[in-house]
Amino acid sequence: MTSNAPSLDELLARRVSGYSLEQPFYVSPEVYDRDLEIIFGREWLYAVPACQLPRTGSYVTMRVGANEVIIVRGRDGGIRAFHNSCRHRGSLICRAREGQVAKLVCPYHQWTYELDGKLIWANDMGGEFDPSRYGLHPVHLRLLEGLVFICLADTPPDFEPFAERVAPYFAVHDLANARVAFTSTIIEKANWKLVWENNRECYHCSSNHPALCRSFPLDPEVAGVQADGGVSPRLQAHFDRCEAAGAPAQFHLSDDGQFRVARMPLQERAVSYTMDGREAVARALGHVAPRDAGTLMTFHYPGMWSHFLPDHALTFRVMPVGPHETEVTTTWLVHKDAVEGVDYDLKRLTEVWLATNDEDRGIVEVNQQGIFSSSYRPGPYSPGQESGVAQFVDWYAEQLRRALAPRQVAAE
Ligand code: FES
Ligand SMILES: [Fe+2]
Repeated sequence: MTSNAPSLDELLARRVSGYSLEQPFYVSPEVYDRDLEIIFGREWLYAVPACQLPRTGSYVTMRVGANEVIIVRGRDGGIRAFHNSCRHRGSLICRAREGQVAKLVCPYHQWTYELDGKLIWANDMGGEFDPSRYGLHPVHLRLLEGLVFICLADTPPDFEPFAERVAPYFAVHDLANARVAFTSTIIEKANWKLVWENNRECYHCSSNHPALCRSFPLDPEVAGVQADGGVSPRLQAHFDRCEAAGAPAQFHLSDDGQFRVARMPLQERAVSYTMDGREAVARALGHVAPRDAGTLMTFHYPGMWSHFLPDHALTFRVMPVGPHETEVTTTWLVHKDAVEGVDYDLKRLTEVWLATNDEDRGIVEVNQQGIFSSSYRPGPYSPGQESGVAQFVDWYAEQLRRALAPRQVAAE
């Protein structure tokens, strides 16, 4: 933004709910930096499924803004997260995206850390050197029914409302007994909010997602919310039928709008995300009945949406990597004893969402390109089709407004 451009406070004050955001929210490096600081730097973020760290010393790394993070399984079986920055002179310690180590050894001067972050070896540092002062800086971490979440804030927001609400829904999917069948990481050349806006509606589905539309219903209530926040009798009947069979299903949107969970029906006769709508995996992950329970759809802003089906589960991680670039990581989880080529065919398991992700990448990139235009102005969301998009944007704007409010008060 140039000096005569509106400030973020001004942009928020004049924002009209139910319309897309003004251009700077999607293009400005300054707004992007505030998004990283206020949203991704403070909220709980989905990282990986715990099964991606199967053994002592298994680790993954991920970048959140400027912060590289190591997530590693320790000798006690616990999973911990640390800043991936050596306490000597700051080098990255783990350079790979995932791997297996006995200790965390810095590649620069070989300072060596135990898997719990303690510094256990540093050569020639003199008699006064106290290694206990130079353990790795920890990052907050929570394990929720087989999924790892991290938070970079010094004092994280309360994780419990989310954890308590979704745990029973997740538990029947038994993700602790999952195995990663496949991971896909793509870069979408669009601001992270456009990735989310696209995710929160299916207005675009019929003309863009031929494979997904074989199983996913076009009913706007499935992707979004009803205008009055209620649930239609048809959906309620589906929830009740699943719950009677032991699979928590009721629609729940958190009061602050950060997360939603609901077990949504797929198209009639479809039970999974395959080209023919039949199961993708013969050996089911979890204990979900009925067979046509559909997809447990969860979103947790700003980092995750997921689909848990009766036969397998999918997680999607959203991570901004630049003002107009977003990394989307999709992970397909199957039962740990499911055998590729016997219980499932990898192409059949992954083809619908690989195609869908690529189609979504294409449309959000074109969306971003159009927003760069000097003629761009916020446009109205469809009340019937894009209630979920409006809900996301309202949540986002509220986070910024709250974060900026104390500064405004101080300045007055
Ligand atoms: S920077 Fe890590 S050992 Fe020197
Ligand atoms: Fe889509």
